[in-house]
Amino acid sequence: METETRKRPNWLPLAVFFVAGALVTAGVLALLLNIFERRSEADVAFQKVVEVDETVADASVWGQNFPVQYEAFKATDYMPEEERVPREPTAEDPREFTAISKIEEDPRLVTMWQGYAFAIDYREPRGHEYMLLDQRTTRRVLERDQPGACLNCHASTVTVMNELGDGDMMAGFAAMNKMSYEEATSYAEHPVQCIDCHDPETMNLRITRPAFIEGIKEYKAGQGVADYDVNEDATAIEMRTYTCAQCHIEYYFKGEEKTLTFPWDHGLTVDNALQYYDEVGFTDFEHALTGANIVKAQHPDFETFSQGVHYQAGVTCADCHMAYTREGAMKVSNHQVASPMRSDETINSSCLTCHHATADEMRERVEGIHERYEHAKDVAFDAFVALVEDLEAATADGTDQARIDLARDYQKKASFFLDYSVSENSRGFHAPAYSIRILNDVTDASRKGQLALLGKETESYTLIGTAVEAEPES
Ligand code: HEC
Ligand code: HEC
Ligand code: HEC
Ligand code: HEC
Ligand code: HEC
Repeated sequence: METETRKRPNWLPLAVFFVAGALVTAGVLALLLNIFERRSEADVAFQKVVEVDETVADASVWGQNFPVQYEAFKATDYMPEEERVPREPTAEDPREFTAISKIEEDPRLVTMWQGYAFAIDYREPRGHEYMLLDQRTTRRVLERDQPGACLNCHASTVTVMNELGDGDMMAGFAAMNKMSYEEATSYAEHPVQCIDCHDPETMNLRITRPAFIEGIKEYKAGQGVADYDVNEDATAIEMRTYTCAQCHIEYYFKGEEKTLTFPWDHGLTVDNALQYYDEVGFTDFEHALTGANIVKAQHPDFETFSQGVHYQAGVTCADCHMAYTREGAMKVSNHQVASPMRSDETINSSCLTCHHATADEMRERVEGIHERYEHAKDVAFDAFVALVEDLEAATADGTDQARIDLARDYQKKASFFLDYSVSENSRGFHAPAYSIRILNDVTDASRKGQLALLGKETESYTLIGTAVEAEPES
């Protein structure tokens, strides 16, 4: 090797390498410096007009102290005309318009959820102002029995849990979870309010959801950190993500107590979650067409985001979804939580502080990610539906039971992974490569399920990170 290099004039590639390296480093450094600067920007300077404490949930009262944040907060009820679906209000459902129905847009979702409430009503998410109303009026609640645990992420729960637990939030959480939804929701008055994210005395961010306090503690324990207390131990930066992660995550209701629980013991990936459910033996429903036992995944926005390049670079949910805007001399966090891509102005405040590009270039990059994602999703979905059809036919044509059982296993994996991916809300953006990898696994598991029906696949699925036990030597 050495003689080789001495013979060649090798300074050119090296020089190119160093210059390119320096440029990339400078670019990443500039981005990182930007991130660090952004950490100390929020000055909570304000005129205290009214006193607020743990008993005041109503944001309009807090809003008197912080009119700018309050105005933006109220604007989460904004919906562009083209996203509204008008309807005739009824006594049961007084809404004059809803968000677009996802199951009408893609009937393959109905195939995936045959036998489960999501097959009757599932819509696009919309602004925080609607969270309580939309939950109370979805057909999943009107036509099926649901537990009080649903309320955890759809209402201002600080005062509710304090009331139900006589000042003990954990006791209130336990009491609320196992109530009927009708009873629990009668205690709720508002969607998420200031009190759910802020300490009334200091205005510091705080975690108010018992399920997240427990979930992140379990997760940290799995990573070797004992007795993690998120409100004591999380950094101010982490809190800018964790406040959102209280609700934007995959979850299930554990046992008769209906305890809201996150499947994080092994970690935050899709494999970790399915491994957890397999170990505890949890499934949501039996598929009406094939008899497979299925786990339904729900909006793993935080977990997916945690596998992407922005999270690794220290960027937080608030950086993009509540970016700083200037109000006169003051910098404030935009409390109109929504898509950062909704206008040139928001792209500017959310992305261009770090990325040296134009709003149109950012739009193109995001649309490019969405397009590649949608393509991979279509391929995966078609493969999945083909498995369901073959399996349904096989249950009626005398196919060997062992083959059917194995194919059902594969349906379970494919369904959970597909659901995990399509119920994540960024259509690939939060972690582009990871999202495509999940869809790849869906296509693969669907194909293996079909091979199982033919007797050509004889092993059940494995997950990345699962310890595979060695076959005993014979
Ligand atoms: C761990 C938090 C959490 C829990 C528990 C929760 N949700 Fe949600 N829900 C969310 C989030 C976040 C969204 C917005 C993102 C989305 O739609 O994927 C949402 C969206 C919704 C929507 C609007 C979109 C749609 O699905 O049509 C409805 C309705 C809804 N949830 C009903 C329920 C019901 C019923 C339950 C109880 C079975 C429940 N939620 C439990 C967090 C939660
Ligand atoms: C208390 C639970 C909860 C918390 C905390 C929460 N969300 Fe949500 N979020 C929801 C629910 C539920 C919806 C869907 C409401 C609906 O469709 O009616 C939603 C909707 C959204 C949407 C869709 C808005 C739109 O216009 O389409 C975005 C974006 C969003 N949340 C981001 C965030 C971010 C960022 C944070 C943290 C700053 C956060 N959320 C904190 C529960 C929550
Ligand atoms: C680097 C910027 C960035 C970060 C950080 C980020 N997001 Fe997003 N998020 C986006 C983009 C871009 C989209 C796609 C929006 C679009 O195409 O309109 C999106 C979409 C969403 C949506 C769906 C919005 C809608 O209108 O339907 C939700 C909900 C959401 N993000 C929640 C979160 C949560 C929770 C976190 C933190 C765990 C987070 N995001 C972190 C940029 C970001
Ligand atoms: C879903 C969580 C959430 C809700 C609800 C919420 N905030 Fe915030 N708020 C944040 C985040 C995140 C920040 C950024 C704080 C930081 O980085 O330290 C913030 C920052 C602030 C700040 C500091 C100055 C600034 O703008 O950055 C004030 C004041 C504030 N919020 C007031 C309010 C008021 C008033 C309400 C109710 C009308 C409210 N917030 C509702 C998440 C929330
Ligand atoms: C606080 C700084 C920061 C903000 C805000 C930010 N980014 Fe980034 N972004 C980064 C860093 C750091 C990287 C990784 C280094 C790189 O690839 O340039 C990155 C990478 C990316 C990538 C490549 C992603 C990949 O997985 O390959 C895209 C696309 C992107 N950002 C889009 C956006 C958009 C759109 C927004 C606004 C909604 C945004 N970013 C906001 C810092 C930021």
